[in-house]
Amino acid sequence: MAVNRIDPWGSVLVEDYERIIEQFGLEHFDQKIFPDPNRLMRRGIVFAGRDLQRIATCIEEKKPYYVLTGFMPTNDHLHFGNKMVVEMVRYFQDHGAHTYILVADLEASAVRKVSLEEARKRALSFHIPAYIALGLDPAKTTFYFQSQNRDVVQLAFTFAQKITLAEFKAIYGKADPSRIMSALTQSGDILYPQLKERMPGIIPVGVDQDPHIRLTRDIVRRTKETKFFLPSAIMCKYTPSLQGDLKMSKSKPESCIELPEDDAIVKKKIMRAISGGRSTLEEHRRLGGEPEKCMVFELLKQHLIESDDELQKIYDEYKSGRMTAGEIKQLAARKMTAFMEKMREDMKKAASLKLNFISFKT
Ligand code: TRP
Repeated sequence: MAVNRIDPWGSVLVEDYERIIEQFGLEHFDQKIFPDPNRLMRRGIVFAGRDLQRIATCIEEKKPYYVLTGFMPTNDHLHFGNKMVVEMVRYFQDHGAHTYILVADLEASAVRKVSLEEARKRALSFHIPAYIALGLDPAKTTFYFQSQNRDVVQLAFTFAQKITLAEFKAIYGKADPSRIMSALTQSGDILYPQLKERMPGIIPVGVDQDPHIRLTRDIVRRTKETKFFLPSAIMCKYTPSLQGDLKMSKSKPESCIELPEDDAIVKKKIMRAISGGRSTLEEHRRLGGEPEKCMVFELLKQHLIESDDELQKIYDEYKSGRMTAGEIKQLAARKMTAFMEKMREDMKKAASLKLNFISFKT
């Protein structure tokens, strides 16, 4: 049986992630410690973390903890990385977490030169509705803007005393002033919920955001005057590019699907993706397809098919050669356009919701 079951680690990119775990001293993710693991957890897309047991214990013992993430409202596009983060936030919201979503408008102004006014407009008209369409439960979420949150800025100033330039460079590779300010502000965000009540917190991130987690954990260890819990983190793999590279990249638009994206464009991109089909139909029927190398199967697995049974059936059909690469692409294109349509509709509905923004005295 083992041969034909979907191995969640069974993609060509496994070695890269093992290296990342080793290099950064991450924990392997173990889905057994969490109740009702979601699709990303079950399929090995969530692959690593830090201090996960602490959060699992909070869930089990129904103790308070929080989940937090933030985004820079730079342009009106999201990608699959954002979708995975939202799905992880939703998982923890459904399992008792206090939820914070912040708009990183200070960071956007420092590193992307977006004015606070512009950032505010984009966050309200696009990013927050999109996060809700991707699964965030707005009724259980507290929102804030960095620029309005004096406590976060105050924390950033305090944390500035806890780290040297050399350490910063060791974590981030480079250290220009705008990055330093943004990173310290981000540490402020990550710990801010603990000012009200000291409790564990978890930050779902893409692997590329791990430096922020490491910096914040270093800061916590050195901050004796306020006793924070070390923040936990949970990490998703990248959605590989349609051409088979480790991650989708905006600099190669043909490799990358935006959220939401126009039907005709997204279909064309899927049709041109690297598949696991053989060079001739005869060979495909005889040897079977190669789902492990197929970026279209990867899209189905990571994002488009919720049911494990349904995914298993497609895997079996494809692997046996009964389903062709053309057919799996048609299927993915159908699922993808249905997904985009629903996302656009849900965004419209979300745009008129009343949100819980923290109000700050001015
Ligand atoms: N730096 C993040 C980004 O580039 C945004 C961000 C700010 C954030 N504060 C955060 C993310 C706290 C997670 C947790 O999009």
